[in-house]
Amino acid sequence: MKKTIAVLPGDGIGPEVTDAAVKVLQSIAMRYGHTFHLKHALIGGSAVDAHNNPLPDETIAACEASDAILLGAVGGSKWDQNPGHLRPEKGLLNIRKHFDLFANIRPVKAIPALLGSSPLKEEVAKEVDMVIVRELTSGLYFGEPKRRTEKAGVDTLVYTRDEIERIVDQAFEIARGRRGKVTSVDKANVLETSKLWREVVEERKAFYPDVEVEHMLVDSAAMKLITDPRAFDVMVTENMFGDILSDEASVITGSLGMLPSASVRSDGFGLYEPVHGSAPDIAGQNKANPSAAILSAAMMLRYSFGMHTEAAAIEEAVMSVLEDGYCTGDLSSAGKQVVSTERFVTKVIEELERELVSE
Ligand code: NAD
Ligand code: IPM
Ligand code: MN
Repeated sequence: MKKTIAVLPGDGIGPEVTDAAVKVLQSIAMRYGHTFHLKHALIGGSAVDAHNNPLPDETIAACEASDAILLGAVGGSKWDQNPGHLRPEKGLLNIRKHFDLFANIRPVKAIPALLGSSPLKEEVAKEVDMVIVRELTSGLYFGEPKRRTEKAGVDTLVYTRDEIERIVDQAFEIARGRRGKVTSVDKANVLETSKLWREVVEERKAFYPDVEVEHMLVDSAAMKLITDPRAFDVMVTENMFGDILSDEASVITGSLGMLPSASVRSDGFGLYEPVHGSAPDIAGQNKANPSAAILSAAMMLRYSFGMHTEAAAIEEAVMSVLEDGYCTGDLSSAGKQVVSTERFVTKVIEELERELVSE
């Protein structure tokens, strides 16, 4: 297959982890006979520096001319005092909105080799296998009015019925292919948007009689993620709740640096991005865990290109390297060998070669 991929490394560790994912994609292309044409473009702080715009037109054009987008991370203290429209994060919000990528899919699954790195007890962490389906193009992040004066700051939380329906349907569809349970997370005891959200979930569930549905308040869900995360299969929630709960859930696997995500729309076009940020504290030190970016590339192959074998090969290779005891500093624990980002990627690529030889 021939595919064009827009590669947007961004800031901080973004370029390091994106380079890693690209190396893995190149290895897959060579071994499975595909051609991946890569178009690099700027986003975030690096785009503000070069073009005074966190999402330049050239970047949108490169993405429009591609079959999928691979993104690293944006942000850094250099741009923290910029006005809203010149913040790196605005580039990320704008690209999600521009391409209508309303469904952010964040799978959280225990990794046997990393159970010792989870902050939860091994017997609790080991059975975790859930997917967070986060609404990504509405809610507090985008609602108007949004403004700041000397005396007040205003953000607006708005959800329309249509916006809720499409993300809830996505969650039901995903649940059908899994254990058949949806937990809808809201704050319906206080928020009007959440009352509407709950109503819509109740309406839509009639179309999915095979799926079990429960409603949970977000504060209680935050607790349950720690006390009994095994109880979750598919969790669907609004934009900001999903942002917060997914960082919380990510560490159950051992590290935020392990968690990939797909930001997609109904026709399968998607942007693939690690859940973590630009990690300024370790940027430029060849220390970042590239797994989330590599596993995001695997999600791209599976969801946007239908390359299931290739995606599984990448996932197995990452797991094997971890099983062999290699990891980056975020996962260090007794008995592990901490290696650099580059060394970790080399190991993953060696593992891919080995998998093919033994097939
Ligand atoms: P962060 O996710 O960048 O980092 C949180 C902690 O996790 C840090 O200690 C960091 O070193 C560690 N970490 C994150 N990813 C890692 C990896 N791959 N390997 C090893 N360790 C890793 O969150 P933050 O520090 O709150 O935010 C830093 C910047 O990133 C901010 O500007 C924020 O807006 C931005 N951000 C961007 C995205 C994105 O681009 N998708 C996501 C979250 C935060
Ligand atoms: C994420 C990030 C972004 C978000 C920020 C950087 C805008 O935290 O992708 O989870 O809140 O969506
Ligand atoms: Mn986040």
